[in-house]
Amino acid sequence: MPIRDKPLPPMYPGGTFYNSKEIEAVIKVIKAQSPFRFYGPNFLDYSKKFEEEYAKYIGVRYALAVSSGTAALHVALKALGVETGDEVIIPAYSWVACPAAVVACGAKPVIAEIDESLTLDPDDVASRITDKTKVIMAVHMRGAPANLEELQKIAKENNIFLLEDCSQAVGGSYRGKKLGSIGNIGVHSFQLNKNITAGEGGAITTNDELLYQRSIMIHDAGAIYRPIYKSILKIDPIPGLNYRITELQSAILLEQLKKLDDIIRRMRRRKEEIKKMISDIDNIEFRKENDPEGDTGVCLVFFLESSSKAQKFVEKLREENIYTSSGGYPWLIYRPGVADGHIYLFWQHYFDKPQDETVAPKTLNLLSRAVHIDISPLLTDKDVEDIVDGIHKVAKDVL
Ligand SMILES: Cc1ncc(COP(=O)(O)O)c(C=O)c1O
Repeated sequence: MPIRDKPLPPMYPGGTFYNSKEIEAVIKVIKAQSPFRFYGPNFLDYSKKFEEEYAKYIGVRYALAVSSGTAALHVALKALGVETGDEVIIPAYSWVACPAAVVACGAKPVIAEIDESLTLDPDDVASRITDKTKVIMAVHMRGAPANLEELQKIAKENNIFLLEDCSQAVGGSYRGKKLGSIGNIGVHSFQLNKNITAGEGGAITTNDELLYQRSIMIHDAGAIYRPIYKSILKIDPIPGLNYRITELQSAILLEQLKKLDDIIRRMRRRKEEIKKMISDIDNIEFRKENDPEGDTGVCLVFFLESSSKAQKFVEKLREENIYTSSGGYPWLIYRPGVADGHIYLFWQHYFDKPQDETVAPKTLNLLSRAVHIDISPLLTDKDVEDIVDGIHKVAKDVL
């Protein structure tokens, strides 16, 4: 008999907290007939309000809302001046949008290893720096902060920029500061799988006025003519594209932002409960935490000693119906041969020469032994009990 007879709640943190608040917010925009962010017949200016609230939440001087996380990455890299001939160091485990944004700037993505935290390995980053390196892209992967202290040190020593991609860890922090407020510029995503969502959406955060001004022009087709920009823009115009957010997205995000701390609190609590209750199991190694207080708790990851054991472990867990009804994230993060847009081997179309297993062997080894369990904010006490019982049952069988 399986531990459960049905899957766990879905893993769409912000989306599953939609209620009458988001509905009313959207209806207001529709009734106002004003979905465009800069004006309309009964303009509500929700996008500016969201930017103000988000900047306050992250603890930065400037936030710019954009149409997606990928748009935010592209705008941020361009704002940093990334162009043809430059190199940007990205983690071997992130999301395909990371190399895509680098290539969209005409630059070259350079893969670096991750460590047991599933985020950039600072030593490996240092070894991949060349005189062409312009940016280190620190991705706060699967809810948790990268090793910002070390990465910032390397960036400063080499006079290059540090970009924080907070897409998977919106609302997380590092040593008391919100992610996206520490590097030169922060990138955020509000796509459906993220901690808060408008289906699509993104933001850039920074304390640097010049980067903010450049980002404004880059995200709005270099449209310096808008009256609203008169009091803001002080620099010469630069070209851009259209990555503007809509009022519909901003209206939703204003409501979602009010819920973010509660969503994170729920996930963190459940993650800690499960972690504690399975810590008696020998031969599992929990993911390294660069700052346990800053984790948003979206998942629990542990490494087994071999990929074959890890593979068996996740198959057995599925037999117990320990997986999310949204299909979840692959239970074993890397299964050789199985395509996954989070792993550099499947980004070949973004490189000028093949990136094989020898480029980041440590990353592939870690990910092939990494059991990943989604922690939905909707988990109940009974769900937690089932996950813990399931893991114990499978551990007895496999380990
Ligand atoms: C690490 C990371 N960066 C960037 C993005 C791109 O965000 P979006 O899907 O909003 O374009 C995502 C997710 O989708 C992501 O996980």
